Amino acid sequence: MTDRMLVRLKVNGDDYEFEIEPRVNLADALRHHLGLTGTHVGCEHGVCGACTVLVDGVSARSCLMLAVQADGCEVTTIEGLAADDGTLDPLQEALSEHFGLQCGYCTPGVLMTLVELRRELNGQAIDEKTVRRKLAGNLCRCTGYQGIVDGALAALNSHP
Ligand code: FES
Ligand code: FES
Repeated sequence: MTDRMLVRLKVNGDDYEFEIEPRVNLADALRHHLGLTGTHVGCEHGVCGACTVLVDGVSARSCLMLAVQADGCEVTTIEGLAADDGTLDPLQEALSEHFGLQCGYCTPGVLMTLVELRRELNGQAIDEKTVRRKLAGNLCRCTGYQGIVDGALAALNSHP
């Protein structure tokens, strides 16, 4: 039997400490050990982007990262995006308004990628080509991408 290792994570502001086999990836740790099933798993080899989360503020494929590699890190998942009272993040609202999701399987990964983009932009305007380049690593089988891009542009270019 494989020895378990102790992992400490801060996920969406909450502290977790658990023992896990070193072979378990971060996506499975989030889903099966912490019950945070909003992070989806598609290809399991780094291609589809469904499992994208933020690790110390930087997007990461959680299917390619071992949970033990994230020890001591701050992880943000889709569950951490809405406010505590349930108010959706403006990116979530915009994707909904612009029909940027159908089955929703890719949506958590898309949104976490866009959260990173929003931080990188720091209030600067963005054009469609740049949004599409940023989302090139997030595959969607449903929407044809236009709704996702429209929603992203609306949210990222609105600066109340
Ligand atoms: S499940 Fe991780 S990139 Fe597809
Ligand atoms: S909304 Fe279905 S895969 Fe993107």
